[in-house]
Amino acid sequence: MTSKISSWTDISGACPLLERLAAPERRRNSGGYIGFHMPGHRGGHDFPPELRTALSALDITEISASDDLNAPGPALRAAAHLAAEAWQTERSYFITTGSSTTIKVMLALAPGPDGRLFCSRAVHQSVIHAAALLNIRPVFLPDDLNLETTTALLSAHHDESGRSAFLITSPDYYGRVVDLRGIASLAERERIPLLIDAAHGAHFNFAPDLAPPPATASGADLIVHSLHKTLPALTPASLLHVASNSLFAADFDDEKIYHYLRIFQTSSPSLMVAASMDYARYYVSNHGGAAIARVHEELLELNRSLHDYGYIPEGPLPRSAYPSGLAERDPIRLVLDCSCLGGGFAMAHYLESKGIYCELAEPRRIVFLPSLGQPAEDFRALGKALREYAEQFQRKGCNGDSKNANGGDGKNGNCYGDSGSSNDNGNDGVETDIPYLSRRDIDEIDQIYVSMREMPADCEGRAEPHLMLNLAAATALPLSQAVNRRLATPLIIRPPGLACRWPGEHINADELPALTELHRFFVQIDGITSGSARVLL
Ligand SMILES: Cc1ncc(COP(=O)(O)O)c(C=O)c1O
Repeated sequence: MTSKISSWTDISGACPLLERLAAPERRRNSGGYIGFHMPGHRGGHDFPPELRTALSALDITEISASDDLNAPGPALRAAAHLAAEAWQTERSYFITTGSSTTIKVMLALAPGPDGRLFCSRAVHQSVIHAAALLNIRPVFLPDDLNLETTTALLSAHHDESGRSAFLITSPDYYGRVVDLRGIASLAERERIPLLIDAAHGAHFNFAPDLAPPPATASGADLIVHSLHKTLPALTPASLLHVASNSLFAADFDDEKIYHYLRIFQTSSPSLMVAASMDYARYYVSNHGGAAIARVHEELLELNRSLHDYGYIPEGPLPRSAYPSGLAERDPIRLVLDCSCLGGGFAMAHYLESKGIYCELAEPRRIVFLPSLGQPAEDFRALGKALREYAEQFQRKGCNGDSKNANGGDGKNGNCYGDSGSSNDNGNDGVETDIPYLSRRDIDEIDQIYVSMREMPADCEGRAEPHLMLNLAAATALPLSQAVNRRLATPLIIRPPGLACRWPGEHINADELPALTELHRFFVQIDGITSGSARVLL
């Protein structure tokens, strides 16, 4: 037996994960795989060929011939400087363990340990983790960021010792942005740092005519960008920016940032990922504007071709559609409301049978993330498959009003999606047919989402993120016995992955039917395992 493996066939059947992950690439090469999902380098095809082949050679440790992401040398400093120029910030930092790390570093800077964080309930889970580790107490802002309520909350809860910060997520998973002007003025007036989780918006800076105003120019102090989400960078590439004109720029200095980075990041951060970030910065600075305009136009054309097929395109929208004159949505994120067409799950299943993979399917919507280099034929193929799907749905006579999910009343054979004519792309992983959801079901699920996201009055002020650090102190109880007890873990509704309960809060008895209902419709809740939640007795 030789010690060197010379071909894939030598290890056939021996490396199950490797083989699973390599399969899409094989299919892509034969035209059987089209991805509209992260990361934004499209299986490496959006990298120049030399970079693609060199990637493993760039995976190098901190030696004199390379650099050190936790203690930068000249090359990293130069690359970070170029990033700061590109995003027009005071300073920018390369973080190669994801925005989940960057968010922890950011919250360690502001509000800092034991501080108050004014934020929405529905934050990315890394915010809850950071709050747990740093013993930060959340104060929940209204979803619409109503300034009167926000100001009242601020005067009631502001930490006079100066350890408060605002955190806003913008854009969200659907590419919608928050108008930050009011909150930025309030933060400036009260001298409270404003932090923006703009993980999904790193490309906005480079298409000022099409994209919403970028977070880095919003009056915020610290901003997080995930580069792999929308740019050609490897996963998990993230930038932390200190905004130019931040009142706190001197406070958020290199020494503090690298100190917290060393605490929250591995001691072996990936120089390969960092090198891909350097490339993404170069690419988007020089070609981003044209690439975004092209993809935007492709998506508008695709949306036009879906007219009369029952889809309700939510984004992207033409610039003229915004009454304020400012874009309010990501110009390159395709979001389709498919509640008249059986919902997102059956649709995603059908598309997969055609070799087309979306970023996110949920009961009401389906979300696609094209890469900046996505070829025109991919948009054609997606449009064709979406039209065929809608025709098939209409042919089956599902008017969307029957109640038909698993176990629902009136389940009938006409109302199941199928996976197309055949599994003709050699796809594995397309399992049984998925039932269409009726419009009534989808409206009901939406109601549950809305009501679960709202905090019950008796949970007010009870969030204690640190409780999640001691799982041993918690007991798993069936939901019916877990009601009214303090949760030891957050509850996160997936898709799309947003918190509906924080540790320390509780589930009310009248919410049990809704939680069971969500499960019936394939919606998962992290924090509930086999019908049980971990609570403190
Ligand atoms: C809004 C938001 N913030 C932060 C993150 C964390 O990013 P990462 O997965 O790079 O750690 C995500 C991930 O999906 C996200 O959606």
